[in-house]
Amino acid sequence: MNVISTQMSSSIENGSWIRRMFEAGIQLKQQYGDDAVCDFSLGNPDMAPPPAVGKALRAFAEHVDEPFSLGYMPNAGFGWAREKLAAHVSKEQGVELAANDVILTCGAAGALNVIFKAVLEPGDEVLSVTPYFVEYGSYVDNHRGVFKKVPTLPDTFGLDLAAIEAALTPKTRAMIINSPHNPTGTVYTREELEGLVSLLAKASERNGRPLYLIADEPYRFLAFDGVDVPSLLPMYPYAILASSFSKNLSLAGERLGYIALSPLFAERGQLMAGLTLANRILGFVNPPVVGQHLMAGALGSQVDVGVYARRRDLMAGILADAGYDFQLPKGAFYFFPKAPGGDDVAFVNKLLEQRILAVPGSGFGGPGHFRLAFCVEDEVIARSAEGFKRALA
Ligand SMILES: Cc1ncc(COP(=O)(O)O)c(C=O)c1O
Repeated sequence: MNVISTQMSSSIENGSWIRRMFEAGIQLKQQYGDDAVCDFSLGNPDMAPPPAVGKALRAFAEHVDEPFSLGYMPNAGFGWAREKLAAHVSKEQGVELAANDVILTCGAAGALNVIFKAVLEPGDEVLSVTPYFVEYGSYVDNHRGVFKKVPTLPDTFGLDLAAIEAALTPKTRAMIINSPHNPTGTVYTREELEGLVSLLAKASERNGRPLYLIADEPYRFLAFDGVDVPSLLPMYPYAILASSFSKNLSLAGERLGYIALSPLFAERGQLMAGLTLANRILGFVNPPVVGQHLMAGALGSQVDVGVYARRRDLMAGILADAGYDFQLPKGAFYFFPKAPGGDDVAFVNKLLEQRILAVPGSGFGGPGHFRLAFCVEDEVIARSAEGFKRALA
């Protein structure tokens, strides 16, 4: 009996590696106890939200008995929330945004779906570099686009501009980039981004329509050693920023994200109308009420980045000491070391024998590597040292 579509059946069959590791982790924890397992499989921030979030939630609770306190709102979010967000993103990106240049969404994931829904014709191509955030392919496919992968430079995972140029066609409608990057921890330099923008501007002109550059930036706040994360909105009229408060406010389950458009884009009003309708008809209807109140109270605060920096250094020491080949992450909370022996699935299984949970790079279009998420307590990282050594032995 065809209870679900064949496409969905095969997606479940090929299901995400992250979920498989998550399930393997539950089993191991049941068998040996939580303290015997080192789980680096999930990018779910473990730090408590900053105090401003709790304060905003308590203040909101005082008014929850009023009519419409939790009611529907305009599809793009509350006007006051858009105003506050526009002021915040203006400062962050170095542009002048009005409330109408931003829209609130259900997470960055919702933002990406809303963007693809608003701009893709059937068969339009969306470029992404490899490796990439595992859900991009599904999001593009949800809106009848074709997901096209372009390799990055070996070892550094930097942008290979020649490969990107070669991949551009009249059907290319968008390119999605993510910096700081999940899973590699790469942060693109201004020079790389300027080179990219120049390619996309020329292609837009050739194609006679905008080739959008979607900047997926939920990790913007998390760049180490003072590294610069260049802003794209002032650089390119067809840049679209997609982001969220999932990581910087540890608010991942509350699903509050946003989109911001470049003020250099004269026709952005039309794009915003498309995004707003997409927010509604994709079934999100509007962004979460509570999340917007939390955002308003907590804009400008964030979790302690120093904690992530300390964990990065701790894990780097352990991996280097054991003899792994890896690039030190410049941002985000992931390592993406080379899988010893080259077979990432086989090596992740070896780590599993040591009760260490990692995700094979194949799940991110980056075979031959494995991903470790270090949004876990220092103690878990410290405890993994012997297991990492034994897996390599
Ligand atoms: C690169 C990247 N983009 C988007 C998302 C989705 O985040 P959100 O919780 O805001 O939907 C994630 C989540 O891990 C991510 O790593």
